[in-house]
Amino acid sequence: MCGIVGYIGTRQAGPLLIEGLRKLEYRGYDSAGIATVHDGAIEIRKDIGKIEAIEKKIGLSLAVGTIGIAHCRWATHGGVTQKNAHPHVSPKHQISLVHNGIIENFSELKKKLQSQGYAFQSETDTEVVAHLVDSLYAGSLKEAVQNAVVQLEGAYSLAVISAKEPGTLVATRNESPLIIGVGKGENFVASDVPAILAHTRKVVYLKNQEVVVLTATGVELFGKDGGKLKPETHTITWDEKKAEKGGYPHFMLKEIFEQPQVVTETIEGRIGEGRVTLEAAEQLGDVKRIIIVACGTSWHSGLIGEFMLEEVAKIPVEVEYASEFRYRDPIIEPGTLVLAISQSGETADTLAAMREAKKKGARVLAIVNALGSSIAREADSVIYTKAGPEIGVASTKAFVGQVIVLYLLTMFLGRKNGLLDEQQVRNRVRDLRLLPLQMQQILDEHDSVKTLAKKFAKKRNALYLGRGINYPIALEGALKLKEVSYVHAEGYPAAEMKHGPIALVDKEMPVVVVVTKDDRTYKKVLSNIQEVKARGGHIIAIASKGDTEIKRLANEVIYVPRNSYLLNPLLAVLPLQLLSYYAATARGFDPDKPKNLAKSVTVE
Ligand code: G6P
Repeated sequence: MCGIVGYIGTRQAGPLLIEGLRKLEYRGYDSAGIATVHDGAIEIRKDIGKIEAIEKKIGLSLAVGTIGIAHCRWATHGGVTQKNAHPHVSPKHQISLVHNGIIENFSELKKKLQSQGYAFQSETDTEVVAHLVDSLYAGSLKEAVQNAVVQLEGAYSLAVISAKEPGTLVATRNESPLIIGVGKGENFVASDVPAILAHTRKVVYLKNQEVVVLTATGVELFGKDGGKLKPETHTITWDEKKAEKGGYPHFMLKEIFEQPQVVTETIEGRIGEGRVTLEAAEQLGDVKRIIIVACGTSWHSGLIGEFMLEEVAKIPVEVEYASEFRYRDPIIEPGTLVLAISQSGETADTLAAMREAKKKGARVLAIVNALGSSIAREADSVIYTKAGPEIGVASTKAFVGQVIVLYLLTMFLGRKNGLLDEQQVRNRVRDLRLLPLQMQQILDEHDSVKTLAKKFAKKRNALYLGRGINYPIALEGALKLKEVSYVHAEGYPAAEMKHGPIALVDKEMPVVVVVTKDDRTYKKVLSNIQEVKARGGHIIAIASKGDTEIKRLANEVIYVPRNSYLLNPLLAVLPLQLLSYYAATARGFDPDKPKNLAKSVTVE
């Protein structure tokens, strides 16, 4: 996590870097800082807190110089203190750098550097790299960085400057993301594209252990072995506005409202009359078994995918936490397809799980939102969700994009396996086309959710229940609530509740039950609701429009339109996202930047 941005050119770096940093704040926001070179010296400004507050306090953007680096932090090594904030500096050769990742051998390196007389100001792993580069400096910053990185173990993206070479910015990466923005008479580095989009659309994706030397007018790229490479430039076609709030108070709310459009864009060009076209799936061969690896919300979309794929395409599916998968010595047989699902395409655990699977001979298909990200690049093939940049830390629209892709993949494989005929695909496509309108309806009429959120905001705990394909929605609803409003919530399969959580039920406990009409466990869930009611629990049902039976049982009902059994979860999730959003704002929290979390988790 952590965000990096660097600039070299003819304009003042300060305002450009801070503007870029604001776009990366989703990556970490416990502290921020900037370093520039001016008049042969490094100027550093840094502090703890969010960028806006620090900017007001010490004027980060006022740092003087036409070369600079900036950073927003999500603490790993060392607490949230001014000293631990980046940039870090090594005084002898006035070297300053920012870092995203974890240097795993930092304590050994630290001891070595201390024995050479280096004094440490912070508790971070990053400061070790600053002193290491300094200790290797012999007149060329590029060479010092090249010689330093061979000693580093772990994940890093680094942007390095020195007062001795005010016309050079050196950057490198291993496992953590870093892109180069190629401008006219100026160049950039950044952890992610939105940071530079206002200035250039030309991007070079840096590969592991490549080193880049930026000057105002040049981009020189060097491979792992030090040999010179030709940078490959890509053009970004996103609309810059998509990475802005566009009148909404928070990104999270904007992104919730973008979901009907995400469905439309994700299916565009991929469905036709009675057929699904997924180029990336054409070469899959015989798929005998699918293992889904993912984290967080993406893992929840995987659980929905399991339902869809088993039900329709009749392929056995397992859904694994990516962080657990590779430590179990997983069995990969011929015909095993691994699906790696990730919004950012940079989640370290998902990337590592995917690599393990590849090593064992699996074919890997990635479902990713961020174009050109590591997972997208390393997978055998990739299907992009077309959600656009997701900035809110708690994932919303990316989840919808993922489930839509899983639905498309299900139809594709179902058709390929001869389990769906043209008419059946046509019917399912019709359901899909209906979805954006139904979602819009929920968004247009969500006042009851706002009212409910005010009550929720006063609670300390909540239970979310669902069965079958709605169970992952219960998990996602609970995750959203705890992530952004800090109300403790548990998602549970409705029937399992009686084996434990029911002990917690009393009149203080709101119990949210996802109980859509077409679910084949519908009747069973009604019985589960009775069990909660009998113990005084306060039932909030997310139910299908027209369901009058539920009204008699639940204390409150939020109705959603009715689609098919497989797509109803995408309607049920909307009120739950909104409930969490409004509970967070009612409690006075910023839902875009929940405490302790980061959007892109690039450490294992
Ligand atoms: C973090 C984010 C979650 C996200 C998870 C997986 O925890 O806060 O919103 O679901 O990472 O991220 P990915 O980018 O791999 O989908």
